[in-house]
Amino acid sequence: MNTAGDNAAVSEETKRQYEFIQKARALVNKRSDAIGRKLTFYVRTFGCQMNFLGSEKLVGILKEIGYVEAKSEEADFVLYNTCTVRENANNKVYGRLGVLHGIKRKNPKMKIALCGCMMQEPTVVDTIQKTYPFVDLVFGTHNIYKLPELFVTMWEAGGQIIDIWDSYKDIVEDLPAERKYRFKSGVNIMYGCNNFCTYCIVPYVRGRERSRNPLDILREIERLAADGVVEVMLLGQNVNSYGKTLDTKITFAGLLKEVTQIDGIERIRFMTSHPKDLSDELIEVMAGSDKICKHLHLPLQSGSTRLLSLMNRHYEKEDYLRLTDKIRAAMPDIALTTDIIVGFPGETEEDFNETMRVVEQVRYDSAFTFIYSKRTGTPAAKWTTQIPEDVVQRRFDRLLAAVQRIGAEKAEKFTGTIQKVLVEQINKQDKTLLTGRMDNNSVVHFPGDESLIGKIVDVELVWCKGFYYMGRKSEK
Ligand code: 5AD
Ligand code: SF4
Repeated sequence: MNTAGDNAAVSEETKRQYEFIQKARALVNKRSDAIGRKLTFYVRTFGCQMNFLGSEKLVGILKEIGYVEAKSEEADFVLYNTCTVRENANNKVYGRLGVLHGIKRKNPKMKIALCGCMMQEPTVVDTIQKTYPFVDLVFGTHNIYKLPELFVTMWEAGGQIIDIWDSYKDIVEDLPAERKYRFKSGVNIMYGCNNFCTYCIVPYVRGRERSRNPLDILREIERLAADGVVEVMLLGQNVNSYGKTLDTKITFAGLLKEVTQIDGIERIRFMTSHPKDLSDELIEVMAGSDKICKHLHLPLQSGSTRLLSLMNRHYEKEDYLRLTDKIRAAMPDIALTTDIIVGFPGETEEDFNETMRVVEQVRYDSAFTFIYSKRTGTPAAKWTTQIPEDVVQRRFDRLLAAVQRIGAEKAEKFTGTIQKVLVEQINKQDKTLLTGRMDNNSVVHFPGDESLIGKIVDVELVWCKGFYYMGRKSEK
């Protein structure tokens, strides 16, 4: 819980880490002077938005220590912030470790570090100890802020340093962070998850749910706004249960309302919403503010009530459909997106057809579709009702085709309209074009120059190309 007493302890910890940053900087400077060039680092991020935001902190700390960013893993310090939500995320990391070993052979003083969700799994740490001794540092999800201290230990002690905590201690505020964009930023509002969906490893690797203090969040957003940020994305595994672990009485809708009051913030996004906790208050606050993007990511996972119960989702198909009806009644143009798992243990053809029916009924603007991945340690991994791969693949292909067809049909409807677009960057393929995002998160390319980057402009959508638009700046 975040009491005032904890906060005092937290800032003590922040101070400690700043002291380690000084120490680390002295070590790095000494090496740079000896070899006559700056040391370089490369951070690679796997997984979700929370991890990408975590990596901004890691990058901020490394720059503070005196490293300069490299464009590839041919660097003096390589750090992987890992994901373990599905098996293939783990496999990617193991694959890349082979490549890193090759680079380290050419540059023996290179340091390799791994952190994040995958490292919270004891079997992974065992494997790294046994098979990948060239990895210098391993830490987890609860002690990311300790990077400066761990860095100094790694540098001074040598050997493989492993520091994994079972659970979190404090939320440590105010360490350096390096934002990818100057005009938009993610903001953590809570960490962890208490839902224990039976397929999901997140509660085990990210720990129990805890919310950041509202004042810390609002102060951070005010600082971001003063620094030129116009769009914030509030992040948590289940933002709708924000505040439940705090002494202060505050709901997610209440927090959102406060964020709308911050001058300079023009767009507010958030994710992820668990359907079981989405309140009427939230719908009301969203509908009542032009600043809150009309987009909800509302994971369905399955359209079969029987499967939803096995998944421990705490809602039935009908609850979900009632909820989406209510949301659309309040905000007819809202974009709805979702996550769906295919091939969950015990999924029958009829269960899958129920999912297809919900997809046809809700008509999502887009959907992330996943093949069920068995995660050791979760209840569903032990069930004997696993579905054969070929059956799952056939279902997955059917679902993907439906999701893509509906997404394209929905996108087409905006052609000819004028939309507000936040310009993010020069188009990577064609330098005469700018690329930005609409309120509903769709991508738009249109002719323009870089002076518009970071601005919200009116763009007429001329041509829909399935999942993105070509447009022109509207003079109206
Ligand atoms: N297998 C497949 N997909 C999963 N997800 C979470 N755990 C698994 C798993 N074991 C998906 C869910 C979740 C998204 C982030 O990842 O759909 O919403
Ligand atoms: Fe995983 Fe369910 Fe928590 Fe989402 S709500 S992180 S799917 S346990």
